[in-house]
Amino acid sequence: MQSEINPISYPQIGQGDGVYISTYGCQMNENDSERMMTLLEMMNFRPVTSPDQASLIIINSCSIREKPVHKVHSEVGRYRKLKEQNDKLRIGVAGCVAQQEKEKLKLDIPLIDFVLGTDAIDKLPDVLSKVRGGQNMVAARFEHQQPYHIQTLIRNPGVSTFVNITKGCDNFCTFCVVPFTRGRERSRPFNHLLEDVQKLTERGVKEVTLLGQNVNSYLSECGVNFAQALKRIASETDIERIRYTTSHPKDFTDELIEVMATYGEKIMEYIHLPVQSGNSDVLARMNRGYTREEYLNKARAIFAKMPNAVLSTDIIVGFPGETEAQFDDTMSLLDEVPYENIYAFNYSPRPMTKAAKFTDQVPDEVKSARLSRLLEKHREIAFKLAAKYNGQTLRVLVERYDQDNGKVHGRSTGNKNVHFTGSEALIGATVDVKITDAKPLVLKGEMVL
Ligand code: SAH
Ligand code: SF4
Ligand code: F3S
Repeated sequence: MQSEINPISYPQIGQGDGVYISTYGCQMNENDSERMMTLLEMMNFRPVTSPDQASLIIINSCSIREKPVHKVHSEVGRYRKLKEQNDKLRIGVAGCVAQQEKEKLKLDIPLIDFVLGTDAIDKLPDVLSKVRGGQNMVAARFEHQQPYHIQTLIRNPGVSTFVNITKGCDNFCTFCVVPFTRGRERSRPFNHLLEDVQKLTERGVKEVTLLGQNVNSYLSECGVNFAQALKRIASETDIERIRYTTSHPKDFTDELIEVMATYGEKIMEYIHLPVQSGNSDVLARMNRGYTREEYLNKARAIFAKMPNAVLSTDIIVGFPGETEAQFDDTMSLLDEVPYENIYAFNYSPRPMTKAAKFTDQVPDEVKSARLSRLLEKHREIAFKLAAKYNGQTLRVLVERYDQDNGKVHGRSTGNKNVHFTGSEALIGATVDVKITDAKPLVLKGEMVL
């Protein structure tokens, strides 16, 4: 199949065979899986929805938290029978566990046929011809590539789609494996982003989410920073809605707040702003580059310019050395910043990271007890914050129709999930919905004509 989105023609290695990709982790991985699937279709593979229909299985792995290698082990183990029954079946591992373990992964799990580094997706055709030709040990490219010139490859873009704009991370937060699995930070040229967003718009996309590990430290080769990039995408393309994730508090500038407030029609008022801890000493040991006060000042500045902004965050509990009093600072942060959603995790030591070597690790039972307290506290807050939506009318971009119950699903400008009765014809439309039943994760309502 020759695709309009990529003029290169690929060897037809797939011969119409089924391919199944299982994806873990963040939106980077989701985006990479879509890239792989697009390339695979161009190589004449056919996406299937269950592993037993596949002659190629790719596990796109994540190593951000607990037991990632073990998870790959057990998933591959589940495919042992399929491999015995189908000698054409090949199994590959991509993503952050692949990058972290490299060739060793294949040596440890012999059922794996190939291992693909996080910057090696374009090597798939080459790797697959070797694997299909019967080569036994295939591992592809673990060096990170410079510069970062990729094309957004999406088969059937939906209403809302991702556009990767930076890759890797230079922050070296002491708990985090990402700088080791995704390499140094690189930004795509700005004109490539502009072109991608416009082309996606022409293919029917209404909303793009600009993606990066630390998206707001984007800096193009010709000096366009993130705030300027957002402003220019908003004013120079026909896209209706722009979102982005994940922003780092230390790079959240006044210029960015100003651009968001000015282009509020197009740039959505939802900000995921991971804080990780509410205590400045813990933040320093995490190497986050901001204090509690500095973070609070940014949150205040956001609400001053965007009173309807919706904030969410990530929190780590039980970071090495975290005392009860330091944890209480994280608890009290929830009283100061009205987070509508939090993603909280027990600290888990990651290979290669500094914090894994800290000698004052917190016992698991202490971490879990703190996590429960935090989630319990946030649950109450989330219900109170959600209540404000009752009776409000929100602008909702409709993404999907559920035939079983006749409901359509969309998202508000503040990224709230909204469900209401409607029809398939509404997909892609932006409509007003009056909220009648507001819960933290779902708002139910009725369309206003
Ligand atoms: N770039 C983003 C985070 C990417 S990782 C940022 O800087 O905020 C997603 C989340 O996983 C992090 O925000 C953190 O809360 C969590 N996380 C990362 N490493 C972790 C670890 N070792 N243990 C527990 N949680 C971790
Ligand atoms: Fe990891 Fe920190 Fe980079 Fe986020 S900013 S990806 S937590 S190193
Ligand atoms: Fe996981 Fe890698 Fe993303 S570790 S969270 S898949 S960058």
